[in-house]
Amino acid sequence: MRLGVNIDHVATLRQARRTFEPSPVYSALIAQQAGAHQITLHLREDRRHIQDEDLELIRKVVHVPINLEMAPTEEMKKIALRIKPNRVTLVPERREEITTEGGLDVVKLKDFLRLYLIDIRDSGIEVSLFVEPEKAQVHASKEVGADAVELHTGRYANLFNRHLIKEAEEELLRLRVAGEEAKSLGLRVYAGHGLNYKNTSMLVEALKDVVEELNVGHSIVSNAVIWGLERAVKEFLKLMAI
Ligand code: PXP
Repeated sequence: MRLGVNIDHVATLRQARRTFEPSPVYSALIAQQAGAHQITLHLREDRRHIQDEDLELIRKVVHVPINLEMAPTEEMKKIALRIKPNRVTLVPERREEITTEGGLDVVKLKDFLRLYLIDIRDSGIEVSLFVEPEKAQVHASKEVGADAVELHTGRYANLFNRHLIKEAEEELLRLRVAGEEAKSLGLRVYAGHGLNYKNTSMLVEALKDVVEELNVGHSIVSNAVIWGLERAVKEFLKLMAI
């Protein structure tokens, strides 16, 4: 299973003082050096963490694939077509949320997304949609022309963190069913949100034959403050190598 390291919160720390440190660009290079298979970053409409310049620089200096998370707006599409990340992951965005709260409602946005994605797909950028682990969302993702889905693991992570292991196992089953459905439709299957050093092993064990890649941000960056980023990435990779 591959690991995409989300470096947004390096930028969150920098923006807390509107200064130049810590540098998300430098952190992307260290994560790459430590073995990350991909750098993931979310350019939010309100620019609360990653800035346009970070994205431009990271695109230039990082050689592992870049996964740009963004809301499906015209502004973000223009940026994606100019920067050409390897992948765009569409996420829902609300200004008042602390982090991405739910998956994109592809079922509801089907007609809009079908048109929205045409130029992005034509430009050769892989399209992934961040969705709840539900068959209807997976089917709609296929219909609008996505290449992949990233299954939202937030609910699983919260249940595990609250020691509700039986419920967490049930959620893993939901992730598996949605993942298998996506695979059967020819979609690639990724997962992420809320994963940390405690709840990831059980998920990897349960889904290693279905999910190709995890995207992890907050926990790696948090532990980087304590251990340093290189060790934080290496320790995460170790627990995924089941
Ligand atoms: N995947 C997606 C689509 C996300 O929006 C996020 C959060 O930016 C993540 C993964 C990483 O989540 P976390 O920071 O909780 O690891």
